[in-house]
Amino acid sequence: MKKNIVLLPGDGIGEEVTASAQRVLDAVAHQFNHTFTYQTEAIGGAAIDEFGTPLPEATEKACHASDAVLLGAVGGPKWDENPSHLRPEKGLLGIRKSLGLFANLRPVQGFAELLHASPLKHEVVNDSDLLIVRELTGGLYFGTPSERRDDGASVVDTLAYERSEIERIVRKGFEAASVRRKHLTSVDKANVLESSKVWREVVNEIAPEYPDVTVEHMLVDAAAMKLITAPTDFDVIVTENMFGDILSDEASVLTGSLGMLPSASLREDGFGLYEPVHGSAPDIAGQGLANPFATILSAAMMLRYSFAMQKEAETIEKAVDSVLKQGYHTGDLNVKNGQKVGTKEITDYVIEMIEDHSATE
Ligand code: NAD
Ligand code: IPM
Ligand code: MN
Repeated sequence: MKKNIVLLPGDGIGEEVTASAQRVLDAVAHQFNHTFTYQTEAIGGAAIDEFGTPLPEATEKACHASDAVLLGAVGGPKWDENPSHLRPEKGLLGIRKSLGLFANLRPVQGFAELLHASPLKHEVVNDSDLLIVRELTGGLYFGTPSERRDDGASVVDTLAYERSEIERIVRKGFEAASVRRKHLTSVDKANVLESSKVWREVVNEIAPEYPDVTVEHMLVDAAAMKLITAPTDFDVIVTENMFGDILSDEASVLTGSLGMLPSASLREDGFGLYEPVHGSAPDIAGQGLANPFATILSAAMMLRYSFAMQKEAETIEKAVDSVLKQGYHTGDLNVKNGQKVGTKEITDYVIEMIEDHSATE
């Protein structure tokens, strides 16, 4: 198959991890006789520096014309004091909105060999396997007004949703649960927020359409606690944009590192942008230390969701698993008795495993 992939490396470790994922995609293309062509475009701080805007028109156009998009990360201290419209993060929010990527799937599945890398007890983390379905183009991130008033004496952000926006993400949650362990936890703050009360209503209205899925409502504060005390109680979590952002970083602790969590940001027709959950990690950027697995596993999600390449996706996931089994890991993972290596080296090992795959089939 021939596919045109837009790469948006962005800032900080975004460049390093995207380069790793591209090498892995190339190895897969070679093994399975596909042709992946790449077009690299600017986003975030890098785009501000080069074009004076975090989301250049050319980037938007290229993404719309592509078969799928792979993004690294945006942001960094260099742009932290910029006015809101000139922040790297605005580029990321802008491309999600422009492409209509309302459904952000964030699977949190621990690799067996990393059980001990989590600061949580082995028996708590063991067998945890959950999926966060995060609403991505509405809620607190996109409501208007959002501004400083009276010269900064007061300030407002707005949490707004159309009922239809809640309905479509809730349906995604139900659909995901119905092909997994059939348990959906809807996370909200319905004891305080009007938007959450409507969210709960919508979940209850849609529930009868999925009779084999059990539904539970949970307040976000309690969910934050349960996520790290009883993670195996969860199957699919569906939640508002900002709640999903916060809970997914927290959930990464189950896997041993934020550097392990991939994600897919999808439109209704299946078009997707794939991105690690983590950010640009300015503290380790440019040093060859970043864990590329979140992005490599995001590339695997691209193959599965956008290109229907199941075997190819599994080959990547198995290769990552094998490399971890051999004890190789990057410095963010607290692995005992393993061998700590850098971004490039661990990517080399993954590629070796992929090249070996036909021999081991
Ligand atoms: P971060 O996710 O960049 O880093 C948090 C911590 O995790 C850091 O200690 C970092 O070194 C570590 N870490 C993250 N990813 C790693 C990886 N792959 N390998 C090894 N260690 C990793 O969050 P932050 O420091 O709060 O934010 C830094 C910048 O990134 C900010 O500008 C923020 O806005 C941006 N950000 C962007 C995205 C995105 O582009 N999707 C996501 C989150 C944060
Ligand atoms: C993420 C990030 C972004 C978000 C920021 C950088 C806008 O934290 O992808 O999780 O909050 O969506
Ligand atoms: Mn985040």
